[in-house]
Amino acid sequence: MGKKKEPAAKPFYSVLILAFVCSTLVAGAAVGLRPQQEKNRLLDQRKNILRAAGLYDKNKAVETLFSVIDTRIVDLDSGDFVPQDKLSPDSYNQLKAAFSSEFGRPLDQEADIAGLRRLEKYSLVYLVMDNNTITQIILPIRGKGLWSTMYGYVSLDADLTTIRGISFYEHGETPGLGGEIENTKWQAGWQGKKVYNPQEKIALQVVKGKAPTSGKEAQYQVDGLSGATITADGVNDLMQFWFGEHGFKPFLDNIKTKGGNNV
Ligand SMILES: Cc1cc2nc3c(=O)[nH]c(=O)nc-3n(C[C@H](O)[C@H](O)[C@H](O)COP(=O)(O)O)c2cc1C
Repeated sequence: MGKKKEPAAKPFYSVLILAFVCSTLVAGAAVGLRPQQEKNRLLDQRKNILRAAGLYDKNKAVETLFSVIDTRIVDLDSGDFVPQDKLSPDSYNQLKAAFSSEFGRPLDQEADIAGLRRLEKYSLVYLVMDNNTITQIILPIRGKGLWSTMYGYVSLDADLTTIRGISFYEHGETPGLGGEIENTKWQAGWQGKKVYNPQEKIALQVVKGKAPTSGKEAQYQVDGLSGATITADGVNDLMQFWFGEHGFKPFLDNIKTKGGNNV
């Protein structure tokens, strides 16, 4: 007696059902995990902000450490704080804003020294508070390196020119070359450096080779990145941009003249 023949379409339907079940599971997991991913992203961002301010301690909860920090939104053009009821810092994403027609604008070539292409109207800023007094201001920064856009934070002392620390948390530069912007030893070399000279010009600069340890320029100069001058130039350009007129200069001038009273 001959064997009963299987219908040719049966394996096809089995594969189709299996594919459907698997894709449903994967899609379900992706959606289900999204809130946790968002929570982790925020936690990571806060860690990087704390690192720039020299306040990170791996033995303490990030949320506890972050409680001394007041997150605010600043209008980059006017340098004024934006009221929280107009725009909430909790829901504002400035990187997305730069590419929206409502909250961003294109930068012309002359202004765009950091290679951003578009700039957001409003930026987040992080104020380290001690009894209603600002002790540090942490600013988000970004700009083009050799291969990638480099994202970081820089923290300024209450004198609004001395750097308390920097951190770079995302980039695509080459490990061991431009990727050394992540090296905490190199980042430590920024502490105590000054951004502005007495004429209010941006004098802060990553040099080629070792920065001088004495002399007039030593207070503004940071060690270079060996074999990665293009990345280092990118860091210089982004500092020029964010401490300049299109970046945080109007805001820092406001804080200086109003003494932080508009906080
Ligand atoms: C595979 C490869 C990766 C590189 N990655 C970087 C980099 O991330 N950043 C950088 O500035 N230069 C990088 N360079 C080197 C640059 O092409 C250039 O030589 C260097 O920036 C010059 O810096 P120097 O004057 O300090 O040697 C890379 C070169 C190669 C071949």
